[in-house]
Formats: sequence, structure tokens, C-alpha cells
Amino acid sequence: MRKVTLYIAASLDGYIARPNGDTSWLHNEKYTLAGEDFGYSAFLQSIDTTLMGHSTYKAIQGFDAPFPYPGTTNYVFSRSGHQGNEHVQFVQQDVAAFAKGLKQQQGQNIWLIGGGEINTLLLNAGLIDELILTSIPIILGNGIPLFAKGAQERQLQVLESQSYKNGFVQLRLKPT
Ligand SMILES: NC(=O)c1ccc[n+]([C@@H]2O[C@H](COP(=O)([O-])OP(=O)(O)OC[C@H]3O[C@@H](n4cnc5c(N)ncnc54)[C@H](OP(=O)(O)O)[C@@H]3O)[C@@H](O)[C@H]2O)c1
Repeated sequence: MRKVTLYIAASLDGYIARPNGDTSWLHNEKYTLAGEDFGYSAFLQSIDTTLMGHSTYKAIQGFDAPFPYPGTTNYVFSRSGHQGNEHVQFVQQDVAAFAKGLKQQQGQNIWLIGGGEINTLLLNAGLIDELILTSIPIILGNGIPLFAKGAQERQLQVLESQSYKNGFVQLRLKPT
């Protein structure tokens, strides 16, 4: 069965964006390491589908850049109907039921991009197989949490950990 992996970066205090959705702190040039992409391109090669919440999609649309995932099938969850485009399809049906159905189809693995609301829905439904969490050495103090309110307690097994010279620490985790 296809794996759903939450591949995401968070501040030390567990935020994935500032309260206004800003993620520019992730891309601070002081974090750049020559020739290092923190496993991103290898991960991208292992997936053919992405899942994201509407707020995350809106944040991506706000970037001054072309759509970043043109080579994958991209689903955006929203409670209301929206017209898709050449890059994304909107999904109004139950998030967990849709993800469960996708996992049973043939294909490569699935990247759960986020954000916090969708992460919680899929975590609580037991549909996240793996997390690859990059911890960024910054405390934001406030923001959009990695898991929105309502996340159920889960134990996680650490499968791998790696630290980088720029202070990033990446954990590969499996909910048990
Ligand atoms: N640090 C990182 O690596 C990273 C990664 C991903 C995202 N982010 C950031 O995270 C922020 C967004 O996170 P978020 O937690 O606010 O929002 P989110 O999970 O991305 O999206 C929330 C939206 O998803 C839809 N939704 C929620 N529950 C649903 C349900 N049961 N059924 C169908 N649709 C549902 C709703 O859209 P409608 O309002 O249209 O109904 C809701 O407003 C953005 O700022 C983004 O940049 C950061």
C-alpha cells in the first residue's frame, strides 16, 4: 500500500508558519548549506501525489514563483467547492476517506504537505505512515501549529535522525 508521509519543517516551538502564514523564516539564507537539500529531491522522487489544505495552497499561490509541484498529482482539501486548474484538483469529500482511498490505489507514495489542520485530521484517522520533520533552530513564540487543536496523543518511533551543520535536525518518525 502507498505510504503517506508528512514531510515538513517546524520551528523549535512547533510552528509551521507565523500567525499570518509567513514562512520566510524557513528560507533564511543563513541556513543555506552548499550542495545540501536536506533529502528533498530524493523524497520528491519517491512520491507522485501531494495532499494539502486550502490554506497551504493559498500560501503557495502567494509565493512569487511558479507552482512548485508541477510533476505530481496535487489534491487540495476545502469544505467549499472551487475550480481546479492544471496543477491542482479540489476535494470536498471527507479528508480521511479520500486519503484512505488514495492509499489503496496503485502508485508511488503520497506527500502530506500540510498544514496543521489537515495534518491533525489524517493523524487522528491513523493515516500518516511516516513523518519527516525538520526542526529549524528558531523560536517563533506564536504561529500556526504543526498539528491543529484536537490532535490525539500518539507515541512515535524514531526511525532515523540527522543533524546538519546549520542547526537543522531532521527526524524520520513512525506513529506506533
Ligand atoms: N513549514 C512548512 O513546511 C509548512 C508546510 C505546509 C504548510 N505550511 C503553512 O501552514 C499554513 C496553513 O496551515 P493551516 O493549519 O492554517 O491550514 P491547512 O491545513 O493548510 O488548511 C486548512 C483548510 O483546509 C480545509 N479543511 C480543513 N478541514 C477540512 C475538512 N474536514 N474537510 C475539507 N476541508 C477541510 C479548509 O479550507 P476551506 O476554508 O476552503 O474550507 C481549511 O481552511 C500556511 O501558512 C502554510 O504556509 C508550512
